[in-house]
Amino acid sequence: MTLHTYLTMSKNQLLEFYDELNDSVLEETPTSQKRLFQKRESKKQVADARLFVRAQEISREFKFTYKAARFEEAWLLDSLVEIAEHQWISDVLRKVKGGKEASVYLCTPGVEVDAPLLAAKIYRPRMLRNLKNDSQYRTGREDLDENGNVIVDDGALHAMAKRTAFGEEVRHQSWIAYEFTTLETLHAVGADVPKPYAMEKNAILMDYIGDPSNPAPVLNAVNLDPDEAKSLYERVLCNIDLMLKHDRIHGDLSAYNILYWNGDITLIDFPQVVIPGSNPSSWTIFLRDVTRICQYFSAQGVDCDARDLATDLWTSHGHKIVKEVHPKYLDAEKQEDRRVWKKQN
Ligand SMILES: Nc1ncnc2c1ncn2[C@@H]1O[C@H](COP(=O)(O)OP(=O)(O)O)[C@@H](O)[C@H]1O
Ligand SMILES: [Mg+2]
Repeated sequence: MTLHTYLTMSKNQLLEFYDELNDSVLEETPTSQKRLFQKRESKKQVADARLFVRAQEISREFKFTYKAARFEEAWLLDSLVEIAEHQWISDVLRKVKGGKEASVYLCTPGVEVDAPLLAAKIYRPRMLRNLKNDSQYRTGREDLDENGNVIVDDGALHAMAKRTAFGEEVRHQSWIAYEFTTLETLHAVGADVPKPYAMEKNAILMDYIGDPSNPAPVLNAVNLDPDEAKSLYERVLCNIDLMLKHDRIHGDLSAYNILYWNGDITLIDFPQVVIPGSNPSSWTIFLRDVTRICQYFSAQGVDCDARDLATDLWTSHGHKIVKEVHPKYLDAEKQEDRRVWKKQN
């Protein structure tokens, strides 16, 4: 790539490039890759300079307690600047969890938000590329814009279908908007989810679960005594039932996406939420969610049968059990397979 290419990259492309380098620098570099690394390193300096300037501009205005690593600072500041400008947060105290797709930060609320502590979940630009299988979840879901409204604009829909850079940004935004609007819906009906406060570009602000020095552990890291296991299991089922009542399947439910704090549970991580009636894979996805929950609770001594349980919950909300067959197992030459295909689409 030439210098010109760098200077004409969109901000999102630049952030993504920068994000990539973050990992390549952090990982051990074998000798064979050193030359490639050096080449990248010099290119990086150009990108580095631009983002550094941007980070400097923002950090002049907002002084956060948390000192991000050099590579992280630019996208962190860029993601939070509007949230800070709206006075939803007044400070970033520390990183709660850094992941490949999103990082979560502990923040103190600004004057506009009434909460003890806040969690800001910031999606990394590369998250989009990991959405390879997102079509399974997107089927039957209308795409949402940055305000959580259904996208009707032909240009945006066309760009998404064509997978242009702009289209990919819209797709990314829609994924985040689903997490935010699902939290809004479920919180309003009393589900055990963090209260959401704001969504900006690639960040979501919600209640923080834990205390300032200890974020709540995920349920999977907790061993429960049998009585508590039984009552939390029932609590999870109530939440699954409530979600179905409001036309939502979590889609990635497991003891890794449930936080445990002071004897209570909180379900998190909703971007892949599925709308039951409109997705042909809903039953399979729902059964997988219930199965993972049963795996954890069985290990905690609770007696549960995932298939029976999933069947009861599913049919009690009027849904039919449809087992989707993957297209690779269907033969276009066979009439019966063509019928299955038609039914599935
Ligand atoms: N509201 C919250 N309060 C405290 N910790 C949180 C909160 N939301 C997320 N976390 C922490 O961040 C981790 C990642 O969040 P999650 O939404 O599951 O994103 P992903 O799994 O896609 O990275 C969680 O496992 C949890 O440790
Ligand atoms: Mg998660």
